[in-house]
Amino acid sequence: ENDKEEVVYTVRAQKGETEIFDGTKTKTYGYNGSFLGPVIRFSKGDTVKIRTINELDEETTFHWHGLEVSGEADGGPHNSLKPGEEELIEFEVTQEASTLWFHPHPEGKTSEQVYNGLAGLIYIEDDNSKSLGLPDEYGKNDIPLIFQDKTFDDEKQLNYSAAMNEDGTIGDTSLINGTLNSELTVNKEKVRLRLLNGSNARNYTFKLNTGDSFVQVATDGGFLNEPATLNEITLTPSERAEIVIDFSQLNTEEELALINEEDGSILLPFDVTDQRGEDSSIPEEMNDFSITEEEMKLPVTKKVELFGMMDQVTINGKKFDRERIDFTQEQGVTEIWEIYNKPDEMGGMIHPFHIHGAQFKILSRNGEEPPANERGWKDTISVEPDETVKIAVQFKHKGVYMFHCHILEHEENGMMGQVKVE
Ligand code: C2O
Ligand code: CU
Ligand code: CU
Repeated sequence: ENDKEEVVYTVRAQKGETEIFDGTKTKTYGYNGSFLGPVIRFSKGDTVKIRTINELDEETTFHWHGLEVSGEADGGPHNSLKPGEEELIEFEVTQEASTLWFHPHPEGKTSEQVYNGLAGLIYIEDDNSKSLGLPDEYGKNDIPLIFQDKTFDDEKQLNYSAAMNEDGTIGDTSLINGTLNSELTVNKEKVRLRLLNGSNARNYTFKLNTGDSFVQVATDGGFLNEPATLNEITLTPSERAEIVIDFSQLNTEEELALINEEDGSILLPFDVTDQRGEDSSIPEEMNDFSITEEEMKLPVTKKVELFGMMDQVTINGKKFDRERIDFTQEQGVTEIWEIYNKPDEMGGMIHPFHIHGAQFKILSRNGEEPPANERGWKDTISVEPDETVKIAVQFKHKGVYMFHCHILEHEENGMMGQVKVE
Protein backbone atom coordinates (compact mmCIF):
# COMPACT_ATOMS: atom_id res chain seq x y z
CA GLU A 1 0.00 0.00 0.00
CA ASN A 2 2.77 2.40 0.90
CA ASP A 3 4.48 2.32 -2.43
CA LYS A 4 1.41 3.62 -4.20
CA GLU A 5 2.37 6.85 -5.76
CA GLU A 6 0.44 10.03 -5.61
CA VAL A 7 0.79 11.91 -8.85
CA VAL A 8 -0.21 15.52 -9.17
CA TYR A 9 -0.79 17.16 -12.51
CA THR A 10 -1.98 20.54 -13.65
CA VAL A 11 -3.79 20.62 -16.94
CA ARG A 12 -4.74 23.98 -18.39
CA ALA A 13 -6.98 24.46 -21.40
CA GLN A 14 -5.40 27.39 -23.19
CA LYS A 15 -5.63 29.41 -26.34
CA GLY A 16 -2.55 30.35 -28.23
CA GLU A 17 -0.85 30.64 -31.57
CA THR A 18 0.99 27.93 -33.41
CA GLU A 19 3.28 28.08 -36.41
CA ILE A 20 1.77 25.26 -38.43
CA PHE A 21 2.73 26.95 -41.70
CA ASP A 22 6.18 28.56 -41.88
CA GLY A 23 6.04 32.21 -40.96
CA THR A 24 2.32 32.32 -40.12
CA LYS A 25 0.64 32.13 -36.79
CA THR A 26 -2.54 30.10 -36.55
CA LYS A 27 -4.90 30.62 -33.63
CA THR A 28 -5.22 27.32 -31.83
CA TYR A 29 -6.23 25.71 -28.56
CA GLY A 30 -4.05 23.41 -26.50
CA TYR A 31 -3.42 21.86 -23.11
CA ASN A 32 -0.41 23.34 -21.29
CA GLY A 33 0.68 24.81 -24.59
CA SER A 34 -0.70 26.30 -27.74
CA PHE A 35 -1.72 23.19 -29.69
CA LEU A 36 -2.77 19.68 -28.60
CA GLY A 37 -1.39 18.50 -25.27
CA PRO A 38 1.33 16.62 -23.45
CA VAL A 39 1.37 12.87 -22.94
CA ILE A 40 0.08 12.29 -19.42
CA ARG A 41 1.62 9.18 -17.86
CA PHE A 42 0.05 7.05 -15.18
CA SER A 43 1.05 3.75 -13.65
CA LYS A 44 -1.57 1.27 -12.60
CA GLY A 45 -2.20 1.80 -8.90
CA ASP A 46 -1.41 5.51 -8.91
CA THR A 47 -3.58 7.90 -6.99
CA VAL A 48 -3.88 10.84 -9.31
CA LYS A 49 -4.81 14.41 -8.59
CA ILE A 50 -5.34 16.70 -11.52
CA ARG A 51 -5.85 20.39 -11.21
CA THR A 52 -7.90 21.27 -14.26
CA ILE A 53 -7.96 24.93 -15.20
CA ASN A 54 -10.05 26.58 -17.87
CA GLU A 55 -8.09 29.46 -19.38
CA LEU A 56 -10.31 29.73 -22.44
CA ASP A 57 -12.93 32.42 -23.04
CA GLU A 58 -15.65 29.78 -23.14
CA GLU A 59 -16.76 26.90 -21.00
CA THR A 60 -15.04 23.57 -21.32
CA THR A 61 -14.67 20.22 -19.57
CA PHE A 62 -11.77 17.80 -19.17
CA HIS A 63 -12.83 14.35 -20.33
CA TRP A 64 -10.55 11.32 -19.88
CA HIS A 65 -11.55 9.13 -22.77
CA GLY A 66 -11.22 5.46 -21.88
CA LEU A 67 -10.36 5.98 -18.22
CA GLU A 68 -12.40 4.07 -15.69
CA VAL A 69 -13.19 6.83 -13.20
CA SER A 70 -16.28 8.02 -11.36
CA GLY A 71 -18.88 10.04 -13.21
CA GLU A 72 -17.79 13.09 -11.25
CA ALA A 73 -14.22 12.86 -12.50
CA ASP A 74 -15.17 11.83 -16.04
CA GLY A 75 -15.51 15.35 -17.42
CA GLY A 76 -18.75 14.87 -19.32
CA PRO A 77 -21.05 17.78 -20.21
CA HIS A 78 -22.23 18.02 -16.58
CA ASN A 79 -18.72 18.80 -15.33
CA SER A 80 -18.42 22.08 -17.14
CA LEU A 81 -15.98 24.80 -16.03
CA LYS A 82 -16.59 28.44 -16.86
CA PRO A 83 -13.74 30.65 -18.08
CA GLY A 84 -11.27 31.13 -15.24
CA GLU A 85 -12.66 28.29 -13.15
CA GLU A 86 -10.64 25.36 -11.92
CA GLU A 87 -11.36 22.05 -10.30
CA LEU A 88 -9.30 19.42 -8.55
CA ILE A 89 -10.22 15.91 -9.54
CA GLU A 90 -8.95 12.75 -7.96
CA PHE A 91 -9.00 9.13 -8.95
CA GLU A 92 -7.12 5.90 -8.74
CA VAL A 93 -5.75 4.21 -11.83
CA THR A 94 -7.08 0.67 -11.65
CA GLN A 95 -6.95 -0.41 -15.27
CA GLU A 96 -4.21 -2.06 -17.25
CA ALA A 97 -1.58 -0.57 -19.54
CA SER A 98 -3.09 1.23 -22.51
CA THR A 99 -3.05 4.34 -24.65
CA LEU A 100 -6.02 6.60 -23.90
CA TRP A 101 -6.65 10.23 -24.62
CA PHE A 102 -8.26 13.32 -23.20
CA HIS A 103 -10.36 16.03 -24.79
CA PRO A 104 -13.11 18.52 -23.89
CA HIS A 105 -16.81 17.65 -23.72
CA PRO A 106 -18.94 20.79 -23.20
CA GLU A 107 -22.42 20.45 -24.64
CA GLY A 108 -22.59 21.92 -28.13
CA LYS A 109 -18.91 22.87 -28.16
CA THR A 110 -17.03 19.57 -28.06
CA SER A 111 -16.48 19.24 -31.78
CA GLU A 112 -15.18 22.76 -32.33
CA GLN A 113 -12.88 22.70 -29.29
CA VAL A 114 -11.34 19.39 -30.33
CA TYR A 115 -11.02 20.72 -33.86
CA ASN A 116 -9.20 23.80 -32.55
CA GLY A 117 -6.61 21.61 -30.86
CA LEU A 118 -7.79 20.33 -27.50
CA ALA A 119 -6.59 16.72 -27.40
CA GLY A 120 -3.80 14.86 -25.65
CA LEU A 121 -2.68 11.31 -24.98
CA ILE A 122 -2.66 9.31 -21.77
CA TYR A 123 -0.27 6.40 -21.31
CA ILE A 124 -0.93 3.86 -18.59
CA GLU A 125 1.91 1.48 -17.75
CA ASP A 126 1.82 -1.56 -15.51
CA ASP A 127 4.10 -4.46 -14.54
CA ASN A 128 3.03 -6.40 -17.59
CA SER A 129 3.73 -3.60 -20.07
CA LYS A 130 7.15 -3.03 -18.53
CA SER A 131 8.10 -6.70 -18.76
CA LEU A 132 6.91 -7.46 -22.29
CA GLY A 133 10.00 -6.06 -23.96
CA LEU A 134 8.06 -4.17 -26.60
CA PRO A 135 9.74 -1.09 -28.08
CA ASP A 136 9.33 1.59 -25.43
CA GLU A 137 11.78 4.39 -26.10
CA TYR A 138 9.56 7.43 -26.38
CA GLY A 139 10.09 9.29 -29.64
CA LYS A 140 12.62 6.75 -30.88
CA ASN A 141 10.92 3.42 -31.30
CA ASP A 142 7.71 4.15 -29.42
CA ILE A 143 5.94 6.95 -31.23
CA PRO A 144 2.66 8.68 -30.45
CA LEU A 145 0.73 9.58 -33.60
CA ILE A 146 -2.42 11.70 -33.45
CA PHE A 147 -4.07 11.85 -36.87
CA GLN A 148 -6.37 14.76 -37.61
CA ASP A 149 -7.68 16.55 -40.65
CA LYS A 150 -8.24 20.29 -40.79
CA THR A 151 -9.25 23.02 -43.22
CA PHE A 152 -7.46 26.36 -43.17
CA ASP A 153 -8.74 29.61 -44.64
CA ASP A 154 -6.72 32.03 -46.80
CA GLU A 155 -5.16 33.54 -43.68
CA LYS A 156 -4.14 30.02 -42.62
CA GLN A 157 -6.58 30.04 -39.74
CA LEU A 158 -8.50 26.96 -38.68
CA ASN A 159 -11.87 27.17 -40.30
CA TYR A 160 -14.32 24.89 -38.58
CA SER A 161 -17.35 25.82 -40.63
CA ALA A 162 -15.49 25.47 -43.93
CA ALA A 163 -14.54 21.94 -42.99
CA MET A 164 -18.13 21.09 -42.16
CA ASN A 165 -19.57 18.47 -44.43
CA GLU A 166 -22.94 16.82 -44.30
CA ASP A 167 -21.79 14.42 -41.64
CA GLY A 168 -19.10 16.30 -39.83
CA THR A 169 -15.89 18.12 -40.49
CA ILE A 170 -13.73 16.56 -43.15
CA GLY A 171 -10.63 18.68 -43.55
CA ASP A 172 -8.47 18.92 -46.66
CA THR A 173 -5.19 19.07 -44.73
CA SER A 174 -3.72 16.21 -42.78
CA LEU A 175 -1.91 16.93 -39.53
CA ILE A 176 0.00 14.44 -37.42
CA ASN A 177 0.65 15.53 -33.86
CA GLY A 178 -0.36 18.98 -35.05
CA THR A 179 2.34 19.07 -37.72
CA LEU A 180 2.15 19.45 -41.46
CA ASN A 181 4.11 17.16 -43.80
CA SER A 182 5.45 15.00 -41.01
CA GLU A 183 8.13 12.47 -41.71
CA LEU A 184 9.38 9.87 -39.26
CA THR A 185 13.02 8.86 -38.99
CA VAL A 186 13.42 5.32 -37.74
CA ASN A 187 16.24 2.83 -37.37
CA LYS A 188 16.19 -0.64 -38.85
CA GLU A 189 14.37 -2.10 -35.91
CA LYS A 190 10.90 -2.77 -34.55
CA VAL A 191 9.02 0.46 -34.07
CA ARG A 192 5.83 0.78 -32.08
CA LEU A 193 3.30 3.32 -33.31
CA ARG A 194 0.50 4.38 -31.01
CA LEU A 195 -2.19 5.45 -33.45
CA LEU A 196 -5.06 7.69 -32.42
CA ASN A 197 -7.70 8.71 -34.91
CA GLY A 198 -8.15 12.13 -33.34
CA SER A 199 -10.23 13.56 -36.14
CA ASN A 200 -13.81 14.69 -35.74
CA ALA A 201 -15.36 12.61 -38.48
CA ARG A 202 -12.83 11.00 -40.83
CA ASN A 203 -12.09 7.28 -40.92
CA TYR A 204 -8.52 6.13 -41.47
CA THR A 205 -7.46 2.80 -42.91
CA PHE A 206 -3.76 2.65 -42.15
CA LYS A 207 -1.62 0.64 -44.51
CA LEU A 208 1.99 0.53 -45.66
CA ASN A 209 2.35 1.77 -49.24
CA THR A 210 4.23 -1.44 -50.06
CA GLY A 211 1.43 -3.60 -48.72
CA ASP A 212 3.79 -5.18 -46.19
CA SER A 213 2.23 -6.51 -43.04
CA PHE A 214 2.67 -5.30 -39.48
CA VAL A 215 1.35 -6.49 -36.16
CA GLN A 216 -1.20 -4.94 -33.87
CA VAL A 217 -0.34 -5.36 -30.19
CA ALA A 218 -2.95 -3.26 -28.41
CA THR A 219 -6.54 -2.09 -28.79
CA ASP A 220 -8.16 0.97 -27.16
CA GLY A 221 -7.84 -0.35 -23.64
CA GLY A 222 -5.01 -2.85 -23.41
CA PHE A 223 -2.81 -5.46 -25.05
CA LEU A 224 -4.16 -8.23 -27.22
CA ASN A 225 -3.39 -11.70 -25.91
CA GLU A 226 -1.27 -12.30 -28.96
CA PRO A 227 -0.07 -10.01 -31.72
CA ALA A 228 -2.41 -9.85 -34.73
CA THR A 229 -0.79 -9.74 -38.14
CA LEU A 230 -2.50 -7.27 -40.46
CA ASN A 231 -2.06 -5.59 -43.81
CA GLU A 232 -4.26 -2.70 -42.85
CA ILE A 233 -6.25 -1.40 -39.93
CA THR A 234 -9.27 0.87 -39.92
CA LEU A 235 -9.75 3.28 -37.05
CA THR A 236 -12.94 5.31 -36.79
CA PRO A 237 -12.84 8.59 -34.84
CA SER A 238 -11.41 8.09 -31.37
CA GLU A 239 -10.30 4.47 -31.83
CA ARG A 240 -6.70 3.67 -30.98
CA ALA A 241 -4.35 0.86 -31.90
CA GLU A 242 -0.75 0.14 -31.10
CA ILE A 243 1.04 -1.44 -34.01
CA VAL A 244 4.63 -2.58 -34.47
CA ILE A 245 6.40 -2.31 -37.79
CA ASP A 246 9.65 -4.23 -38.13
CA PHE A 247 11.84 -2.01 -40.28
CA SER A 248 14.69 -4.52 -40.12
CA GLN A 249 12.57 -6.87 -42.23
CA LEU A 250 11.37 -4.39 -44.85
CA ASN A 251 12.99 -3.53 -48.12
CA THR A 252 14.17 -0.03 -47.37
CA GLU A 253 15.46 0.57 -50.88
CA GLU A 254 11.90 1.55 -51.63
CA GLU A 255 10.15 4.62 -50.32
CA LEU A 256 8.14 3.57 -47.31
CA ALA A 257 5.12 5.38 -45.98
CA LEU A 258 1.98 4.95 -44.00
CA ILE A 259 -0.99 5.72 -46.21
CA ASN A 260 -4.72 6.14 -45.69
CA GLU A 261 -6.30 3.49 -47.87
CA GLU A 262 -9.67 5.31 -47.69
CA ASP A 263 -8.43 8.00 -50.09
CA GLY A 264 -4.96 6.77 -51.06
CA SER A 265 -3.26 9.74 -49.42
CA ILE A 266 0.25 9.52 -48.01
CA LEU A 267 0.10 10.19 -44.29
CA LEU A 268 3.58 9.55 -43.00
CA PRO A 269 6.72 8.83 -45.03
CA PHE A 270 9.44 6.91 -43.17
CA ASP A 271 13.08 7.83 -43.40
CA VAL A 272 14.88 4.62 -42.50
CA THR A 273 18.48 5.02 -41.34
CA ASP A 274 21.16 2.37 -41.76
CA GLN A 275 21.42 1.95 -38.05
CA ARG A 276 20.27 -1.30 -36.56
CA GLY A 277 18.36 -0.84 -33.37
CA GLU A 278 18.21 -2.84 -30.24
CA ASP A 279 16.49 -6.12 -30.50
CA SER A 280 13.14 -5.55 -28.93
CA SER A 281 10.78 -8.45 -29.20
CA ILE A 282 7.11 -9.03 -29.68
CA PRO A 283 6.15 -11.78 -27.27
CA GLU A 284 3.68 -14.43 -28.37
CA GLU A 285 1.70 -13.94 -25.18
CA MET A 286 0.97 -10.43 -24.03
CA ASN A 287 -2.19 -10.47 -21.96
CA ASP A 288 -4.88 -12.58 -20.37
CA PHE A 289 -7.97 -10.94 -21.81
CA SER A 290 -10.84 -13.40 -21.89
CA ILE A 291 -14.54 -13.64 -22.60
CA THR A 292 -16.16 -16.07 -20.22
CA GLU A 293 -18.88 -18.57 -21.00
CA GLU A 294 -21.11 -16.82 -18.50
CA GLU A 295 -20.68 -13.56 -20.38
CA MET A 296 -21.56 -15.30 -23.65
CA LYS A 297 -24.75 -16.64 -22.06
CA LEU A 298 -26.01 -13.38 -20.58
CA PRO A 299 -29.16 -11.99 -22.19
CA VAL A 300 -29.21 -8.62 -23.92
CA THR A 301 -30.47 -6.07 -21.40
CA LYS A 302 -29.72 -2.81 -23.18
CA LYS A 303 -30.52 -2.02 -26.79
CA VAL A 304 -29.02 0.92 -28.61
CA GLU A 305 -30.24 1.80 -32.08
CA LEU A 306 -28.03 4.21 -33.98
CA PHE A 307 -29.80 5.98 -36.78
CA GLY A 308 -29.49 8.74 -39.30
CA MET A 309 -27.14 11.14 -40.94
CA MET A 310 -26.38 14.84 -40.78
CA ASP A 311 -28.52 16.58 -38.16
CA GLN A 312 -31.16 13.85 -38.29
CA VAL A 313 -29.14 11.51 -36.10
CA THR A 314 -30.71 9.79 -33.11
CA ILE A 315 -30.13 7.04 -30.57
CA ASN A 316 -33.23 4.94 -29.95
CA GLY A 317 -35.20 7.57 -31.83
CA LYS A 318 -34.21 10.34 -29.44
CA LYS A 319 -31.82 13.21 -29.27
CA PHE A 320 -29.65 14.03 -26.26
CA ASP A 321 -31.34 15.64 -23.30
CA ARG A 322 -29.05 16.41 -20.38
CA GLU A 323 -32.00 16.06 -17.97
CA ARG A 324 -32.92 12.58 -19.22
CA ILE A 325 -31.30 9.38 -17.96
CA ASP A 326 -31.66 6.76 -20.69
CA PHE A 327 -30.36 3.70 -18.87
CA THR A 328 -29.42 2.65 -15.38
CA GLN A 329 -26.89 -0.03 -14.58
CA GLU A 330 -25.53 -1.43 -11.36
CA GLN A 331 -21.89 -0.80 -10.49
CA GLY A 332 -19.76 -3.92 -10.94
CA VAL A 333 -22.43 -5.86 -12.80
CA THR A 334 -21.85 -6.94 -16.38
CA GLU A 335 -24.66 -6.27 -18.83
CA ILE A 336 -24.91 -7.06 -22.49
CA TRP A 337 -25.54 -4.08 -24.71
CA GLU A 338 -26.70 -4.66 -28.26
CA ILE A 339 -25.74 -1.90 -30.63
CA TYR A 340 -27.58 -1.82 -33.95
CA ASN A 341 -26.91 0.60 -36.77
CA LYS A 342 -30.23 1.03 -38.56
CA PRO A 343 -29.81 1.98 -42.23
CA ASP A 344 -31.92 4.72 -43.82
CA GLU A 345 -33.10 5.05 -47.45
CA MET A 346 -29.62 6.23 -48.39
CA GLY A 347 -28.03 3.15 -46.87
CA GLY A 348 -26.65 4.80 -43.81
CA MET A 349 -23.07 5.15 -42.63
CA ILE A 350 -20.60 3.85 -40.08
CA HIS A 351 -21.11 5.23 -36.58
CA PRO A 352 -18.26 4.89 -34.06
CA PHE A 353 -20.00 4.04 -30.79
CA HIS A 354 -18.34 5.02 -27.51
CA ILE A 355 -19.19 4.60 -23.83
CA HIS A 356 -17.60 6.72 -21.11
CA GLY A 357 -16.08 5.32 -17.94
CA ALA A 358 -15.70 1.71 -19.05
CA GLN A 359 -13.62 -0.59 -21.15
CA PHE A 360 -15.84 -3.25 -22.70
CA LYS A 361 -15.58 -6.51 -24.63
CA ILE A 362 -16.94 -7.22 -28.09
CA LEU A 363 -18.83 -10.53 -27.91
CA SER A 364 -20.01 -10.67 -31.49
CA ARG A 365 -20.49 -8.79 -34.73
CA ASN A 366 -23.62 -9.92 -36.55
CA GLY A 367 -23.52 -13.06 -34.46
CA GLU A 368 -19.95 -13.91 -35.45
CA GLU A 369 -16.82 -13.85 -33.38
CA PRO A 370 -15.06 -10.49 -33.72
CA PRO A 371 -11.78 -10.39 -35.69
CA ALA A 372 -8.58 -11.30 -33.82
CA ASN A 373 -7.51 -7.69 -33.46
CA GLU A 374 -10.75 -6.80 -31.67
CA ARG A 375 -10.40 -9.42 -28.98
CA GLY A 376 -9.20 -6.93 -26.41
CA TRP A 377 -10.54 -4.04 -24.34
CA LYS A 378 -12.43 -1.44 -26.34
CA ASP A 379 -14.14 1.84 -25.54
CA THR A 380 -15.07 2.81 -29.09
CA ILE A 381 -16.24 0.49 -31.86
CA SER A 382 -17.18 0.99 -35.45
CA VAL A 383 -20.69 -0.14 -36.28
CA GLU A 384 -21.49 -0.59 -39.98
CA PRO A 385 -24.95 0.03 -41.43
CA ASP A 386 -27.24 -2.87 -40.58
CA GLU A 387 -24.65 -4.35 -38.26
CA THR A 388 -25.45 -5.61 -34.77
CA VAL A 389 -22.63 -5.64 -32.24
CA LYS A 390 -22.98 -7.24 -28.84
CA ILE A 391 -20.74 -5.96 -26.10
CA ALA A 392 -20.26 -6.85 -22.44
CA VAL A 393 -20.16 -3.69 -20.34
CA GLN A 394 -19.23 -3.31 -16.71
CA PHE A 395 -18.73 -0.06 -14.84
CA LYS A 396 -16.28 -0.06 -11.93
CA HIS A 397 -17.51 3.27 -10.59
CA LYS A 398 -20.72 5.17 -10.02
CA GLY A 399 -22.02 8.22 -11.72
CA VAL A 400 -23.65 9.46 -14.89
CA TYR A 401 -21.82 8.56 -18.09
CA MET A 402 -22.37 9.50 -21.71
CA PHE A 403 -22.60 7.05 -24.56
CA HIS A 404 -22.50 8.46 -28.05
CA CYS A 405 -21.41 8.40 -31.64
CA HIS A 406 -17.82 9.68 -31.77
CA ILE A 407 -18.33 11.51 -35.03
CA LEU A 408 -18.24 14.67 -32.96
CA GLU A 409 -20.76 16.50 -35.13
CA HIS A 410 -23.20 13.62 -34.66
CA GLU A 411 -22.63 13.77 -30.91
CA GLU A 412 -23.22 17.51 -31.07
CA ASN A 413 -26.41 16.92 -33.05
CA GLY A 414 -27.80 14.82 -30.25
CA MET A 415 -26.51 11.32 -30.99
CA MET A 416 -25.79 10.81 -27.31
CA GLY A 417 -27.47 9.29 -24.28
CA GLN A 418 -26.75 8.86 -20.59
CA VAL A 419 -26.38 5.83 -18.38
CA LYS A 420 -26.57 6.23 -14.64
CA VAL A 421 -24.47 3.75 -12.69
CA GLU A 422 -25.65 3.21 -9.10
CU1 C2O B 1 -14.01 10.76 -26.50
CU2 C2O B 1 -17.60 11.41 -24.99
O1 C2O B 1 -15.75 11.06 -25.70
CU1 CU C 1 -15.17 9.33 -23.75
CU1 CU D 1 -22.59 8.90 -36.09
